[in-house]
Amino acid sequence: MAFLGVNIDHVATLRQARREIDPDPILAASICEQAGVHSIVAHLREDRRHIQDVDIVLLRKSIKTKFNLEMSAAQDIVQMALHIKPDQATLVPERRQEITTEGGLDVARHRKRLAKVCGQLQQKGIVVSLFIDPDKKQIEAAKALGVLMIELHTGAYARAFVGRSESKELTKIKAMTAYAQKLGLIVNAGHGLNYQNTLAISRIRGMEELNIGHAIIARAVLVGLKQAVQEMLQIIKK
Ligand code: PXP
Repeated sequence: MAFLGVNIDHVATLRQARREIDPDPILAASICEQAGVHSIVAHLREDRRHIQDVDIVLLRKSIKTKFNLEMSAAQDIVQMALHIKPDQATLVPERRQEITTEGGLDVARHRKRLAKVCGQLQQKGIVVSLFIDPDKKQIEAAKALGVLMIELHTGAYARAFVGRSESKELTKIKAMTAYAQKLGLIVNAGHGLNYQNTLAISRIRGMEELNIGHAIIARAVLVGLKQAVQEMLQIIKK
């Protein structure tokens, strides 16, 4: 069975909409762990639109499973990661205007910069994963950088699933997973996975971990709403 990592960024998105203290991503991480997840994922974006520096500090202290910090290779973020020492760092590309991480890292193109950052992180004992598109050139470039692990971007597959034309993208992810595993890489996958499209990806042979955020937090809002309303009604009735 593939492991599940839950990305808690969107708990912080909701909190930041009001700049309040609720909902607390640290508590959310703990609930996810109680529910049986294998790791907690949080992305400290350069624009700090959801997760804040203090969250990272508190998550490091409180996470009991595995802390996977998603991050760009920007110098100040790297310094923060070296200080916090998450169990794992997943390097992702980042553009300020994007709504979410839109594509994989171009490892081949940014080889020099990434080699330096991977080396810095690995020296601190942090496992490095590279978030890349399911593409041979990127997989080979990741292998050449000496990382143990990659995460294949499933965004194109998830988009194709909506139009019921996912089979080509699924075939590609299966083939690239097998190719990367043959090179000795551990393969994770994530982005856009939801309650409809995850099964096929979870069945890929040797798939190590699926990292899922938006779909789980979105579902939590709806499945938790009835209880939240009932609790407030109880207060008013008193
Ligand atoms: N994996 C990586 C590397 C990501 O950047 C993201 C989005 O932050 C995810 C997984 C989770 O994507 P989603 O929120 O669409 O499930």
